[in-house]
Amino acid sequence: MFGRYRYALRHDVSIGCHDKTSVRALPTLQAQQGIVREERMTMAVRVQFKQHGGPEVLELVTFEPQAPGRGEVRVRNEAIGMNFIDIYYREGLYPVDSFPAGLGGEGAGVIDAVGEGVSGFAVGDRVAYASVGRGAYADQLCLPASRLVHLPDDISCEQAAAVMVKGLTVQYLFRQTYPLKAGDTVLFHAAAGGVGTIACQWARAMGVKLIGTVSTDEKAQLAKSLGAWATINYAKESVPERVLALTEGRKCPVVYDSVGMATWEDSLDCLEPRGLMVSFGNASGPVTGVDLGILNRKGSLFVTRPTLKHYADTPEHTQAMSDELFQLIREGHIDATPRNRFALKDVRHAQEALASRALMGLHVLLP
Ligand SMILES: NC(=O)c1ccc[n+]([C@@H]2O[C@H](COP(=O)([O-])OP(=O)(O)OC[C@H]3O[C@@H](n4cnc5c(N)ncnc54)[C@H](OP(=O)(O)O)[C@@H]3O)[C@@H](O)[C@H]2O)c1
Repeated sequence: MFGRYRYALRHDVSIGCHDKTSVRALPTLQAQQGIVREERMTMAVRVQFKQHGGPEVLELVTFEPQAPGRGEVRVRNEAIGMNFIDIYYREGLYPVDSFPAGLGGEGAGVIDAVGEGVSGFAVGDRVAYASVGRGAYADQLCLPASRLVHLPDDISCEQAAAVMVKGLTVQYLFRQTYPLKAGDTVLFHAAAGGVGTIACQWARAMGVKLIGTVSTDEKAQLAKSLGAWATINYAKESVPERVLALTEGRKCPVVYDSVGMATWEDSLDCLEPRGLMVSFGNASGPVTGVDLGILNRKGSLFVTRPTLKHYADTPEHTQAMSDELFQLIREGHIDATPRNRFALKDVRHAQEALASRALMGLHVLLP
């Protein structure tokens, strides 16, 4: 409702100009009568970059809002999720289609225009989205309706924007890639980060013993408070030794590793025979040049390198995964409140903070 109201306000008719606003003559009856009226067309803002690099390559630009194409809707973002993946795109680890490129794949807001051929979504609907390609770092964007989920009334846009990518990632990691059951003991790296804090809470809700790695004592405290069964400070402790001790020599059936290069081999050493290595990120750099024989030598191990879009691959799957996440939030098992909020215009500072490892938990950008 609020979104619709705001939209109406931004498209009022007046004479004169305003920040972020262009003025266009409107051919009305009054104009024919010699009275000039002008329509205030609100300009939109988005973040773009023209080359890979540090946060300094990011720039905020204004653009004229596009009408949604066939099968698309236009979403006015209320909040935008921040993910470590955004850094991979900015730095060039993950390719962009062309320059200038947009950034961000997660957000939530209100639909303010609907393209042809869209069913199931209407102007004024509250929606959220994850993994939609690049371009979510904007106050509005056009998206295929097939990538949206309806937002229940009791989930705020801030919560949804903070948690869609991270929460759906934990959904597929825990419920699909390796379906966990109560009593399982697992190793999860970067447990105080965005995905990590959701994982700690989800594991607690399932009765899973999650051993979380962290780089500081403060992060260890946070992970424990959110449900990690144990933590290992990998800046000063040996992860395989501690896992061996914590599991009384059994090790883990599955390791979830988003740190990548720095932890790859230690992670394999934490797996029981025929265990599954889930390598799902590259925070320290990508794992490359793997000798497959290492899987044989370390216990006939399995390995997978999954990504969210191959699990949330249809509107039905995405909605079902989201419903499960929203239910855990609703029941109080997962706190989806962002710990850090940055103004969209402070995007460089926000990215710097995320890359520096200083942040914990969930973060959003606010347009
Ligand atoms: N494959 C997928 O479907 C998928 C989907 C979403 C996210 N991910 C991955 O999941 C991971 C977490 O994402 P997130 O957005 O929630 O980020 P995050 O966990 O909030 O931040 C990344 C964390 O990685 C740890 N880290 C370890 N080595 C690092 C290094 N050299 N530089 C920077 N950080 C380092 C840091 O925690 P400590 O200081 O405690 O080490 C840091 O806080 C990322 O690797 C991301 O790519 C994958």
